[in-house]
Amino acid sequence: MKLLCFDCLDSTNSYLKQNYQELESLTFVETKEQTLGKGRLERKWQSEKGKNLLFSILLKDSCYFEKYKEISIVSAYSVIQVLEQYGLTNIGLKWPNDVYVNDSKICGILLESVSTNQMECLIVGIGINVNQKSFSKDLIHPATSLFNELNKEIELNQFKKDIYQQLITNYQKLVDKETFYEKIVRYDYLKDTEAYALINDEKKLVKIIKINNDYSLRIIVDNNECDIHSGEISFHI
Ligand code: BTN
Repeated sequence: MKLLCFDCLDSTNSYLKQNYQELESLTFVETKEQTLGKGRLERKWQSEKGKNLLFSILLKDSCYFEKYKEISIVSAYSVIQVLEQYGLTNIGLKWPNDVYVNDSKICGILLESVSTNQMECLIVGIGINVNQKSFSKDLIHPATSLFNELNKEIELNQFKKDIYQQLITNYQKLVDKETFYEKIVRYDYLKDTEAYALINDEKKLVKIIKINNDYSLRIIVDNNECDIHSGEISFHI
């Protein structure tokens, strides 16, 4: 593992997209501040300087490429494991890979890839709210942080080490063909809920059944049961 630390970047994901050729697999890039932090669905990721954990991991080995769906959800599960070690409870994994605590978002993950003729790399970008105390009221989903949940400041450096270690451990287990499904579904936040989803630009009320064991999501929409594979959808409970 190689760690690159910056004070300010446009986005740790963009940095890896631009520099992946010179960097080795399992390079971690972190920054205290992002000027163009990216979220899923073309959204922005906002974070107060120096308060939170903002990083991306570069995966260049083909053993990861065929497992990108697992990489995405196992990354979220790794964050959950560390949050539990820090004493947080009532944690949910909102498909495909958001982490919620007490119904507010504490972590978002943006998975991107670079392909030419073939897949060149996967980039896992992770933002975790750690010591930030207040969040914009305009956010689509309400946000929280470890500080707000535990009412105490977290030592960011140690937290970072714990997160990195958990991710590396779980990625290795994935390569060794360990299955995480049973562990992950215990945190299925959307299971048995009704939520609004934007499908083909149309807002629809859907019933969510569960995360399937291929990590797609089973839903009922217009009385039809179907599985969604793409994460290009957002649910509002
Ligand atoms: C989301 O919930 O929409 C995903 C948010 C991902 C944010 C992280 S912060 C580090 C990395 N760099 C980015 O520009 N985005 C990801």
